[in-house]
Amino acid sequence: MLKGKNIVLGITGGIAAYKAAELTRTLIKEGAQVKIIMTKSAAEFITPLTMQTLSGDMVYTEMFVPTAKYDMAHISLAEFADAIVIAPATANIIGKIAAGIADDLLSTTIMAADKPILICPAMNDKMLDNPFVQENINKLKKHGYAVMDSAFGELACKTSGAGRLPDIPDIIEAIEALLSPKDLSSEKILITAGPTEEPLDPVRFITNSSSGKMGYALAVASKRRGAKVTLITGPVKLPLPAVDKVIKVRTAREMHKAVLDNFSGATIVIKAAAVADYRPSQFFKEKIKKDNKPLSLKLERNPDILAEIGKTKGTRVVVGFAMETQNLLANAREKLIRKNVDLIIANNLSDEGAGFQKDTNVITIIDAKSKAEVLPKMTKLEAAEIILDRIQTLITGKGKRKK
Ligand code: CTP
Repeated sequence: MLKGKNIVLGITGGIAAYKAAELTRTLIKEGAQVKIIMTKSAAEFITPLTMQTLSGDMVYTEMFVPTAKYDMAHISLAEFADAIVIAPATANIIGKIAAGIADDLLSTTIMAADKPILICPAMNDKMLDNPFVQENINKLKKHGYAVMDSAFGELACKTSGAGRLPDIPDIIEAIEALLSPKDLSSEKILITAGPTEEPLDPVRFITNSSSGKMGYALAVASKRRGAKVTLITGPVKLPLPAVDKVIKVRTAREMHKAVLDNFSGATIVIKAAAVADYRPSQFFKEKIKKDNKPLSLKLERNPDILAEIGKTKGTRVVVGFAMETQNLLANAREKLIRKNVDLIIANNLSDEGAGFQKDTNVITIIDAKSKAEVLPKMTKLEAAEIILDRIQTLITGKGKRKK
């Protein structure tokens, strides 16, 4: 949710400075306004003109410039920022911040700022390993700076190791987390996502069209808001989100076991997975060969995981999903009561913008009083944020949760 956010991007002098161009483009694409401060050394690696063109704004390089209107840039930039990001951050800027040195525009802005600050170190692996650099990084962390781990891989000095600038999507995610309220930091959230696969023989299985996008969006948003997140995921083609624990499962019975194993430690359970209700009664060890006769398949019920945990939920907030094609509200309300859950997130497959593979969703949130909140089409991440807001209302007691 970087839309409308003001980001001050500090670029310091390392070879990874060229990657700040891509970072700036991405921030702008996400809807942020970006003002850039470059150190003298950074301008040796990438020109201020490049950064000015990409950010659509003047680039700040000097502490003392005569301007028509007197403006203390270090103060006004710190005030403008919702967050300050230094990418790449050299050993030098990290050392200066840790030592309380303010001798150029970037270090002075940092000293004058009371905004969240993200440091993205990038340097040679031996420099990163240097005990003084490590001490300085730890000092920054201790004082509330967010410091990303450098990525591992090939370095500009032809060696390989830790010290690469973290990947741009990871930096964007770290900025999102930096700007999110930490209102779920005392919660342990268990999330299920994706479909399950129910094997028939070594090459065939029954499944559904779930992409896992809604569950993964919930995992990302929960993590941003400070929760401890366990994600139990069926087979999907999505990059794994950086959460505390990921358990990969294939079948409904594996998901059932994983949920029960992790249920007692959870304070919130969100069951976004599209669990197969049935599995083939028999698993054929060898591939089934065809003949000319019709073949019928016998199916048997899988455990209903949500209904089972609804019975023993205690004070946990339990949220279920309902994907319907008809009578959305009536079916979803019935599901909420039958499965004893606090909220049902209902969506109708026939709504434009809703559905399994899409990045958007059209949801209706139904609570225990049967109140239905109909929401417009939005991204799955935006929908995830609203679902977490409603859960938060239940936790703080403003909405009543079921026992
Ligand atoms: N669910 C589950 N275990 C199952 C089936 C569903 O935990 N075996 C959960 C899903 O994760 C979802 C909710 O139940 O949160 C609703 O799933 P859905 O299949 O729509 O509901 P059913 O109760 O199976 O109802 P129906 O098949 O009649 O639509």
